[in-house]
Amino acid sequence: MGTDIDKLRGRLTSNQIRLDLNRVLKRFDLGLYRQSEVETKQGVLARGRDELPEGAAERLRPDHPRIAELGAAYADHPASDLSVWSDHRLKGQIDLRYFRGDTQYLYQDRGTSELAYRLSYDVARSNDSLGLFDRVNEDGSFGAIAFEIDGVAVSRDLIDSVLELNYLSEMLGAGSLDDINLLDIGAGYGRLPHRLLQAFPGATASATDAVPISTFLCEYFLSEHLGLSNASVVPLHKFSEHLESQSFDVAVNIHSWPETTTNSVNWWLQQLADHDVKRILIIHGSETLFTRSHQLSEEPFEPLLERFGYRRVDLRPKYSDPLAQRLGAFPAFYHFFER
Ligand SMILES: C[S@@+](CC[C@H](N)C(=O)[O-])C[C@H]1O[C@@H](n2cnc3c(N)ncnc32)[C@H](O)[C@@H]1O
Repeated sequence: MGTDIDKLRGRLTSNQIRLDLNRVLKRFDLGLYRQSEVETKQGVLARGRDELPEGAAERLRPDHPRIAELGAAYADHPASDLSVWSDHRLKGQIDLRYFRGDTQYLYQDRGTSELAYRLSYDVARSNDSLGLFDRVNEDGSFGAIAFEIDGVAVSRDLIDSVLELNYLSEMLGAGSLDDINLLDIGAGYGRLPHRLLQAFPGATASATDAVPISTFLCEYFLSEHLGLSNASVVPLHKFSEHLESQSFDVAVNIHSWPETTTNSVNWWLQQLADHDVKRILIIHGSETLFTRSHQLSEEPFEPLLERFGYRRVDLRPKYSDPLAQRLGAFPAFYHFFER
């Protein structure tokens, strides 16, 4: 953590110097930018396509044998009936080296303005009862896009995670995150487990996924790069066995079931119900829950949740402020279920 903050300070300072210099140079119609920065966006701190930790570029390559190994192990698994994340749709789409950039894991740019980020940050900060913005930080690593807002490096990863952790704390009770055992299904590169464990070192988290490159990136990010010993990255074919040894306080599913098939969701729900996981948070872009068929058509899946005994106890917009929910960065809806 200390090292992260030092790195961030160094990076903020050098970016601040560059921003200050740019302000001066602009008066003379000149500018000084790192190649990786977006010149039209004032306040962009990081878009770190030129800064990778040592060894990362060699490790994060699409022909790494671990990806093939995971691919073979997942091939006939019932949860790997994929749609949005099928091999042919993903092909060439994600540069593994910059997995925290504007990718399918977390859209960050897509025309979203700095103003939208500021609005979202203000609302998230005003709802941050846990004071997480002072406890977690954005270092702009692996391509993450960060804006400088009130002296803080702000990214979508940070805003979303702070909102989600505050929401979980509200739903599970004060102090619940201190030693929570969280299961993240479709965890991507491990965004939420990372933020949870950064803020609550006494917590534990398991991150699982049905897409080989996602498990690969998550293993790299949480275990190898961050060295988080209280995070378990669970490959799909080891999931059922792992579940036997755990008692999870909550399962979260953030923009993942709505990006896969009903068959797959059916398998995950069966697992959760069999092990009596009592609570599920699902985050989705819309107020109605649906999965995606192979042809990408929508199939409602709330009846499936009901069939496994999960009933809805909450539904609310990601942003408490209607303007932010309309114009902020990547609005969504929180769906909370219990059995
Ligand atoms: C939009 S990303 C979200 C990642 C992460 N939850 C986050 O919010 O940062 C969607 C995730 O769903 C995962 N996914 C796709 N199909 C899945 C399936 N059948 N079962 C579980 N996860 C799946 C992808 O691998 C990816 O990690």
